Amino acid sequence: MKRKHIYSAVAGLALSVIQPLAAQKNTEVSLTLEGDAPIISKHIYGHFAEHLGRCIYDGIYVGEANKNIPNTNGVRNDIITALKELKIPNLRWPGGCFADTYHWKDGIGPKKDRPTIVNQWWGGTTEDNSFGTHDFLNLCEVLDTEPYLAANVGSGTVKEFTDWIQYVGHDGVSPMADLRKENGREKSWNVTYWGVGNEMWGCGGHMTPEHYANIYRQYATFMTSWTNDQKLFRIASGANVADYHWTEVLMRDIPKNLIEGVALHSYSFVKWENKSSDIKFNEAQYFSTMKTALKMEELVEKHTAIMDKYDPEHKVALIVDEWGGWYDSETPEKGVLYQQNTMRDAMIAGTTLNIFNNHADRVKMANIAQTVNVLQAVILTEGEKMLLTPTYHVMKMYTVHHDATLIPVTFKSPKYTVDGESLDAISISASKDEAGKVSASLVNIDAKQAHTVSINVKDLGLKNATASILSSKALQDHNTFDNPNNITPQPFKDFKLKKGELQVELPPFSVVVIEGEK
Ligand code: AHR
Repeated sequence: MKRKHIYSAVAGLALSVIQPLAAQKNTEVSLTLEGDAPIISKHIYGHFAEHLGRCIYDGIYVGEANKNIPNTNGVRNDIITALKELKIPNLRWPGGCFADTYHWKDGIGPKKDRPTIVNQWWGGTTEDNSFGTHDFLNLCEVLDTEPYLAANVGSGTVKEFTDWIQYVGHDGVSPMADLRKENGREKSWNVTYWGVGNEMWGCGGHMTPEHYANIYRQYATFMTSWTNDQKLFRIASGANVADYHWTEVLMRDIPKNLIEGVALHSYSFVKWENKSSDIKFNEAQYFSTMKTALKMEELVEKHTAIMDKYDPEHKVALIVDEWGGWYDSETPEKGVLYQQNTMRDAMIAGTTLNIFNNHADRVKMANIAQTVNVLQAVILTEGEKMLLTPTYHVMKMYTVHHDATLIPVTFKSPKYTVDGESLDAISISASKDEAGKVSASLVNIDAKQAHTVSINVKDLGLKNATASILSSKALQDHNTFDNPNNITPQPFKDFKLKKGELQVELPPFSVVVIEGEK
């Protein structure tokens, strides 16, 4: 899990509330409807839940016997409702690093008979396997979301892996289908997405790409789809951040009939060795975090360029199956990798999702790390209480882009400058859904300066528009268990639609989503 990062060190940890400036700048934006524009796959809005800290146990899953927290088969009802409202398209499980230690047969059968295991990557905690394959796949059915199983390659075998595929996917008579039926599930589940290990360059076995490419070929050969209507989507463990050699070797050495997706992991932080507090950060630290977040554009473009070389027909997808902000928690007692979620996270979510939308021709899936109580979570829990984070609200505002057609945007962003270094202040993506509704998501990461954006919408024939905004007084603001609605999206009126031009005033550190009406 150790990452190489080159981002600049920043000044101290003192909390500074950043005061907005009133002045405005103007940015001209054009939207171009293109006949061959890609669909923004809803799977870009995917999630990731690992057996780590309080994500699964004491997070999503509180156990069937819990009388204090309303639950369905042990899963919190408030989380089910929130994730349904978020329309999560897929959920990756059980890791992360945990995946390459997980033996799925430990998590099936009567719960009282399941063995305990020790979570070797995440705090050495002992767990009782009470949340296993049935629990996860039944939850996906309840959520109406597609499961993405990340399977054990690092400490597993081809047989263990392919038995799992047969267990969840075979409907006839077979050893694994029979075992599943004995465990109470007659019909198979529909599992399309399979990860062939996780971070094979690190916690998955510290492999070289050449070694992993060979192992991948071996595993992928035996991954069989057992039903006619189901095709397996095999995802190779991808590069760590800017390890372009990893992608090059995988794309070069894995035949295209054995692979549907190649992954990429990249997190945002001030500095890997010294990540900064989740809530007490200054503007320089905010700037550095945004610098790593915006780096995602370069990563996607450079990994894509390599993929284009070996796969000009775009048969293999780029799957960013771990992304998000990573900080030091002010409240470590609340769990391993537990962190609060501020307006800084809203900025990361808004800009990253815009990057993925704008590269929807190659990025077909992404998974924010992680769903509940871990890293850039969309939901935090404490006993019976639950809150939705600013990141949740951004993802909900962006549901307008799910499976809509991308509308490419062109503009020159004004700069956001701190200590002589500059980043693009504005990030935008736009789309048109099946009903013809046009939506644009705009982010202003500038901590002090508002910006005016003028969007040329002449070709779109818009007559009216509605909008919502996520903003707050300070970048460090967040929702708490005592004040869970401190930050929520609000109706936004600070725009004008006149003579084919949509003029929007974007306050500092805000996310705005505009929906046009014809
Ligand atoms: O998301 C936390 C960890 O980050 C995952 O387990 C691992 O894949 C990555 O290093």
